[in-house]
Amino acid sequence: MILLEGKPVAQNIKARVSERAKSFLNTFGRKPGLAVVLVGGDPASQVYVGHKVKACEELGLASFRHALPEDISQAELNLLIENLNKDSLVDGILVQSPLPKHLSFSEVLDRIAPQKDADGLTPENVGLAWSGRPRVVPCTPAGIIELLKYYQISLERKNVVVIGRSDIVGKPMAQLFLQNNATVTICHSKTKALEEVAKQADIVVAAIGKRNYFTKEFFDRDAVVIDVGIHRLEQGMLCGDVFFKDVKESVRAITPVPGGVGPLTIAMLMQNTVTLAELRV
Ligand code: GUN
Repeated sequence: MILLEGKPVAQNIKARVSERAKSFLNTFGRKPGLAVVLVGGDPASQVYVGHKVKACEELGLASFRHALPEDISQAELNLLIENLNKDSLVDGILVQSPLPKHLSFSEVLDRIAPQKDADGLTPENVGLAWSGRPRVVPCTPAGIIELLKYYQISLERKNVVVIGRSDIVGKPMAQLFLQNNATVTICHSKTKALEEVAKQADIVVAAIGKRNYFTKEFFDRDAVVIDVGIHRLEQGMLCGDVFFKDVKESVRAITPVPGGVGPLTIAMLMQNTVTLAELRV
């Protein structure tokens, strides 16, 4: 079994991003800037936002953290987005999801200037990606493509099964595999005979958000398994959507949780921000 660790891949990407940030600073007299918006006190989201701000510092990007109270209104949140759109020091905007229930993430995405959309989630950027001329693409799927390339797992002619159809992971993941000449099946919680479908795949991306759900019965012996899930168990340990202990010796390659896909998401966010900064000036 090959363990697909994300750290070395993320290090490579971050080294390149750091060089680009440095040369941006030298040329334009300021750092590429990322605004990170966190609404409410969800502990996991606070940790993720902390990692994003820290990565900015490490790589020579400016970060602008906006922590808003849980009970902020949609109008107030929209106003912040509009101000960030106008702020010349801000190149990328990321609003951490999920938002509290009374707020609409779509309404936020409708307002983020596509030229500053660090997540690649606004309607314009989704459309550009699907029409084969991407500006920036969502961080986790983009990171997974980088991970597979680093470990020299070719995508052309491969049968890929993506399990999960979220706007942040499943849908953009399918699009990127298609762009790389793979044949893609998108499955979800209502898919018939999921186990049989998954078993046909050369590459499986598990992103349904159920802890330790996928056992070895779901995978071909030669499968490459990418686990996007992240769950905190009662004892504080982390696990993914794939039951790692059960699966690891029954497949060709697999990502660990933590230490697989996670580090790549942040590296790609930094890359997107620098790309948007370069495009904007
Ligand atoms: N919440 C979990 N993952 C993400 C992500 O990639 N972007 C945003 N904005 N929120 C998230």
